[in-house]
Amino acid sequence: MLPQLAVLAKILCLLMVVMCGAVPAMVRSVSLYSTCSSGNVTVMGRLIKAVERTDHNAPYQKLTTQSEDFSKMLYIFAEKSQRYICFNKKWKLVGLLKKQKGYCQFYEEYNGSYLTYRNVNNSRYLGFNKSGYPIKNRGRQECFNFIKYNPHADINHHNSLVNADMGGMGPRDPYVVSRKPSPARDNTKNSLLQADSTRETIHTTHHYRHSNRWKMRQGEKMSAPRRWPHESRLFVEANKY
Ligand SMILES: *[C@@H]1O[C@H](CO)[C@@H](O)[C@H](O)[C@H]1NC(C)=O
Ligand SMILES: *[C@@H]1O[C@H](CO)[C@@H](O)[C@H](O)[C@H]1NC(C)=O
Ligand SMILES: *[C@@H]1O[C@H](CO)[C@@H](O)[C@H](O)[C@H]1NC(C)=O
Ligand SMILES: *[C@@H]1O[C@H](CO)[C@@H](O)[C@H](O)[C@H]1NC(C)=O
Repeated sequence: MLPQLAVLAKILCLLMVVMCGAVPAMVRSVSLYSTCSSGNVTVMGRLIKAVERTDHNAPYQKLTTQSEDFSKMLYIFAEKSQRYICFNKKWKLVGLLKKQKGYCQFYEEYNGSYLTYRNVNNSRYLGFNKSGYPIKNRGRQECFNFIKYNPHADINHHNSLVNADMGGMGPRDPYVVSRKPSPARDNTKNSLLQADSTRETIHTTHHYRHSNRWKMRQGEKMSAPRRWPHESRLFVEANKY
């Protein structure tokens, strides 16, 4: 994607966020699957492990990523525990109620088709061993690899199909929806850009998707509106709030 397109997209997203305020329904929660432990990252109080999903722990596996600005630094927040995934001063992984700059911030990066989470202060990676315990120092690469799962696959499936041909903001995103594999693997990865998948927005999708009004508005500002319907749809929806 052209750099200026990316910048414009970010500006649109910023507008969207400003207008929506903190609408919880606009946040997409994900689960992070650790390929080494074959479990999802689970935050129960301070304790962080990667374990298989059960009825009991499923809510503790719902995570969201948050960015304070448009840098690539992310906080990983566990909704049920209301805690952030952080390193403490001894570089042990803990769930903290208050986010701390640096220790709780990660860069989400690609390694092959997997995601890795590198602490911004230090080059430590989020990793879990085969038993699901956080890794302190070294381990096999697969123990630092993750796949993002979207638990709301059924709701989002339609949107994924709709957006599938529109390209995405990021490079290959190992973004997997439960049950039904989606063609929209290129979908946006930034949590702000992920804000499209909610029940609320689904109703409006078709209506605005076929409208040319926004394409024309975009066309005035730039000459390559081809990728815009996705972002402009967010913009239109944001207007409703
Ligand atoms: C991880 O979470 C996803 C989404 O909730 C779920 O589909 C998957 O079965 C879970 N995997 C494991 C190993 O618990
Ligand atoms: C970690 O990073 C934050 C923000 O980038 C910085 O303020 C802090 O001093 C750093 N701490 C350490 C121990 O490097
Ligand atoms: C990515 O994976 C390769 C092996 O495929 C490994 O050698 C390398 O250290 C990994 N890089 C990061 C940043 O994890
Ligand atoms: C994983 O780490 C825990 C805690 O450090 C340790 O007790 C356990 O033996 C490790 N499991 C494997 C398979 O390395």
